[in-house]
Amino acid sequence: MSPKLGRRPRHRGRLIHAEKFPDDKDLITSSSSSLLFLRSLRSLRSAITNMKDRAHQVEAWLDRLYIAAEGAGLRDEDRRKAIEVAAILEEIERAVERWSARRPLVLVDAAAGKSYVGLLAASLVFDKLERQARVIVLERNRRLVDLTAAAIGRLGTRVPIECREADVADPAVWPDEPDIVVALHACGPASDAVLDRATGSRARLLLLVPCCTSDSVPSAAEAMREATRLGIPRQAPVRRRFIQALVDADRTRRLESAGYRTEVVEFVGATVTPHNLLWRARRTRQAAADRDEP
Ligand SMILES: C[S@@+](CC[C@H](N)C(=O)[O-])C[C@H]1O[C@@H](n2cnc3c(N)ncnc32)[C@H](O)[C@@H]1O
Repeated sequence: MSPKLGRRPRHRGRLIHAEKFPDDKDLITSSSSSLLFLRSLRSLRSAITNMKDRAHQVEAWLDRLYIAAEGAGLRDEDRRKAIEVAAILEEIERAVERWSARRPLVLVDAAAGKSYVGLLAASLVFDKLERQARVIVLERNRRLVDLTAAAIGRLGTRVPIECREADVADPAVWPDEPDIVVALHACGPASDAVLDRATGSRARLLLLVPCCTSDSVPSAAEAMREATRLGIPRQAPVRRRFIQALVDADRTRRLESAGYRTEVVEFVGATVTPHNLLWRARRTRQAAADRDEP
């Protein structure tokens, strides 16, 4: 005879509990851990909803600031960019909320392109949280700097935004001790230059998302020699992964040895962008102490 599905003896759950958790204390623990699980499920669901809302908000702003202004419509790649920017804004907002509101903040958007992150951080984070701040945008391509300047006019923020047409490797263009340095998809060696300049200028927080790894990335040349020395096969996908792993390790190590507590996380899914690793590096007290030593 087949068992009747959906009909269980009433006492079954309690019996299992009794066998597994012999005293009341454990029963309480069991039900409170279920409660905790439900709570975290609920907060995960609300975080996903918030993230989706933010991505839609960013999409609307990208359209208003740049795309409609150029007489075009949103493409799939713009929608993916909106997801990336929304995720970075979430990181910025979380940091800002942790810090005292007494002091004005400085954010640097490095290798900024059209400065989506810098401009929208001004409006969707600093304006929204009513925080005193200023934004500095660093980009070497004059056309993109001009596009940023035009977009600032359409943004209507109270946060001062300064566009600097500059190479991120130039120490002269960096402010001292910026609170946040963000570089979304800094290509090739620009990621290394941002890393060096952000730590050199004692940024409090670096949010770095590297992009492609070309031969001009300093540690890539070293990794290539290492690949040859170890006899890593020449097949491109195998070799590329090996080299990327060494470049990623080198960047992580440099941040840590500069006194930055560093996490590396996937800030968006790999279907949004294959370059989806974020280096989240916070300056530690040790870094501050090292610098103050004579
Ligand atoms: C892939 S785009 C990313 C732009 C923007 N952060 C974004 O996510 O939309 C990289 C940008 O970095 C700029 N760039 C590359 N190397 C640079 C350097 N050494 N100094 C300043 N800007 C640089 C390029 O001109 C380009 O606009």
